[in-house]
Amino acid sequence: MEEQKLRSSEWFGRTGKDGFIYRAWMKNQGFPNHLFKDKPVIGICNTYSEFTPCNAHFRELAESVKRGVWEAGGFPLEFPVMSLGECQIKPTAMLFRNLASMDVEESIRANSIDGVILLCGCDKTTPSLVMGACSVNLPTLVLSGGPMLAGRFQGRKIGTSDLWRFAEDFKKGNMTQEEFTAAEAAMARSQGHCAPMGTASTMAAMIETLGLGLTDNASIPAADSRRKALAHLAGIRIVEMVHEQVKLSDILTRQAFENAIMVNAALGGSTNFIIHLLAIAGRIGVDLTIDDFDKLSAQIPLLANVQPSGEHFVEDIFYAGGLPALMQEMKHLLHLDSLTVTGKTMRENIENAQCYDRNVIATFDKPFKPESGIAVLKGNLCPNGAVLKPSAATPKLMQHTGKAVVFEDIDDYKKRIDDPNLDVDATSILVLKNVGPKGYPGMPEVGNMQLPAKILAQGISDMIRISDGRMSGTGFGTVVLHISPESAVGGNLAFVQNGDLITLDVPKRLLQLHVSDEELALRKEKFKPIALGYDRGYTKMFINHVMQAHEGADFDFLRGASGSEVKRDSH
Ligand code: FES
Repeated sequence: MEEQKLRSSEWFGRTGKDGFIYRAWMKNQGFPNHLFKDKPVIGICNTYSEFTPCNAHFRELAESVKRGVWEAGGFPLEFPVMSLGECQIKPTAMLFRNLASMDVEESIRANSIDGVILLCGCDKTTPSLVMGACSVNLPTLVLSGGPMLAGRFQGRKIGTSDLWRFAEDFKKGNMTQEEFTAAEAAMARSQGHCAPMGTASTMAAMIETLGLGLTDNASIPAADSRRKALAHLAGIRIVEMVHEQVKLSDILTRQAFENAIMVNAALGGSTNFIIHLLAIAGRIGVDLTIDDFDKLSAQIPLLANVQPSGEHFVEDIFYAGGLPALMQEMKHLLHLDSLTVTGKTMRENIENAQCYDRNVIATFDKPFKPESGIAVLKGNLCPNGAVLKPSAATPKLMQHTGKAVVFEDIDDYKKRIDDPNLDVDATSILVLKNVGPKGYPGMPEVGNMQLPAKILAQGISDMIRISDGRMSGTGFGTVVLHISPESAVGGNLAFVQNGDLITLDVPKRLLQLHVSDEELALRKEKFKPIALGYDRGYTKMFINHVMQAHEGADFDFLRGASGSEVKRDSH
């Protein structure tokens, strides 16, 4: 292939004053002159932050990437971008996903970068970086930070999904404060992101199945030395990708998205996957809709026995053969000719994979569970869709009609959920409004709301819960999420009243409010949008521009790409 002029030569290849300026200040870091000529500049986009504990080992990982880049003849330069720590950021990390993507997009375009490695880990750090990079479309390789080792507590393995159980046990008085505190350290005992198939691991798997990461990117534990070796190899490979001119758009085809959706189903991945994948597709220009998720995953059983749908952890997938072993089981469905960042097709990436533990990765013919994937519901409560994860739900609740117990917003829920006089029983349906993209704002992970204390006291652990919010990827239960349009913009969810009957029928993909159109029209006339109280700054911009959940909740003005060209040049 004919060698192309490097993009970075627009900076470092210049003569006269301009070239002097671009090179001279870089030289204050001790770089000798020869590095500025004909060496692919590899940007290492780092989401390291001590406020993002899942990514706190990324300085070490970046050093391993640099070794690989140097070895391959590139020139690595690391840069920071906004980092979103899921468990630390208030009011919710999702509020800032699009902001971080803008930081990434503009940082890549504005600098002398020929190819970029995205260091991602905690939930939102993956989609925000990929979305931003898609809008520039340079050669790009994604390196995930890897999952934590499973926790150990009182003789058994634990992970983030156990947090919900501990919280209920503590509320019921079955766990002491001392035990609760001891479990904190026992759960998060190593570097890396959450150990179950939560959103971070779902995103890392998405990267591998889209073809954006090297083989085993999804599952090598963060603490395993092979994660650093993978980082080194990623550094080598991105230099080759610059020489081969392989761009994101060469890899992110419709087929790649379909592969990611099908594998996510077999893994029991997070419902957040839908929102993020839709947003990524919108940036790279692939036509993808929420209905594709149901259509493509309907044929696929659950193969991975990992939390929150099963009992094991993401590290166990690695020991059992990794994602390639799981993909072997469903290769008759996958698009195996898809190109990946390895320079090979998906077929070549997985051809030698073997499964070493059928307790963790089941066969397609004898799956772990028959139900998987994402059910996309429609009905008068969600004309544009709502989602439910069947593998994490209670089978007997999948077809159920019950009376609504309504909470107008999250504060109302917190105030009344444990009120002994709350008119609720185990057949009721808990309805939470105003936790959607605009309504909260930022669409927090509160959809799997904790059950009322008096229901928990009866030994009941699941009820139908519906909302326009999201749920943590580590959460579980019969939880309907992402109702669109959301209540804050006048979706029918806004008009549900206590005692209304609601039917959930997952086999029919139906979510129906049993209130006549005439009555709904009357209720609509009295509708007053809630006062959001944000009249300046980023949050105001968010509310004005965020799209609905079924569109990926990106900003309307960020869809698509602007390419890598810098239109004005001040030097
Ligand atoms: Fe970072 Fe779970 S809090 S991945």
